[in-house]
Amino acid sequence: MCVWTIMEDQKKILCVGLVCLDIISVVDKYPEEDSDSRCLSQRWQRGGNASNSCTVLSLLGASCSFMGSVVAGHVTDFILEDFQKFGVDVSLVSEHSQCTAPVSVVISNISTGSRTILHMNRNLPDVTLEDFSKVDLHQFKWIHWEGRNAEEQVKMIQQVEKYNSTLPRQQRITISVEIEKTQELLYQLFPYGDVVFVSKDVAQHFGFQSAEAALKGLYHRVKKGAVLVCAWAEKGADALGPDGSLIHSDAFPPEALVDTLGAGDTFNASFIYTLSNGGTLQEALTFGCKIAGRKCGFHGYDGISETLSDV
Ligand code: ADP
Ligand code: FRU
Repeated sequence: MCVWTIMEDQKKILCVGLVCLDIISVVDKYPEEDSDSRCLSQRWQRGGNASNSCTVLSLLGASCSFMGSVVAGHVTDFILEDFQKFGVDVSLVSEHSQCTAPVSVVISNISTGSRTILHMNRNLPDVTLEDFSKVDLHQFKWIHWEGRNAEEQVKMIQQVEKYNSTLPRQQRITISVEIEKTQELLYQLFPYGDVVFVSKDVAQHFGFQSAEAALKGLYHRVKKGAVLVCAWAEKGADALGPDGSLIHSDAFPPEALVDTLGAGDTFNASFIYTLSNGGTLQEALTFGCKIAGRKCGFHGYDGISETLSDV
């Protein structure tokens, strides 16, 4: 094995996006409005799409870094300790004072696995181009952006494209973007990923009733050579690559559907993990659905590592 291959193998995956606090109440029946009921349990959990994907990447055995904003205080102490517990590098986190920490209140229904999220981010700014310009890109083989402040994110991606243009193909950073929310502003990200994850929500917003229809209908928006991926909950996920062949994986439902919070983030991480290790599109899609399906069978993410031996 030559020297650069060894160095490429040691490079990390960076996820840029949100970290927040998830305050999760577990119930066995979704509450009536204006009722006063008791829940089965309550917990704090580190959340946010990019943050959750880092958790899963780490549990799968990948070296990864999280880049995002936090607010100095107790919530962030909890968040940073948790990142550390999962071995996620947080050296690129920027701390803001005079801001309120973003929090989600989540009702997690164990009878259906549904997760109802009420999220609030009052004033915490997203990562800027200025923050990103300080990143030493040499340490990364893959950078994933959770679509948020898209205009600024496009500029960050263009920096990586410029960096890539100076390097031979094997040493370039793979760029992925996630377009999850139905916000017009996020759609400008379509042409910027080598891999683009588009959500069922966005697909439906565009009028598509299946992952297959969405991929065929939205593929013209991605750049030449890109892979477009669409997960569709219990229907599994599909991907469309440059050769025009549509790939599908069925879902792998757990014995009991307990907690679907972060299933999409788990899918994205497992997909990225497989492709970044040289797997095929079909392998990435199948592994993504397997790990995401298993995750739906337990609370949180810790259980992922225990199930890896028989994937
Ligand atoms: P999210 O709503 O968190 O974005 P998705 O609905 O996009 O997640 O699902 C991501 C992946 O998680 C799916 O492709 C599937 O593999 C798995 N998944 C989600 N919900 C279920 C379910 N009810 N049963 C089995 N697998 C599921
Ligand atoms: C799950 C999640 C939660 C967070 C919410 C933010 O995908 O990242 O952890 O509270 O979405 O939209």
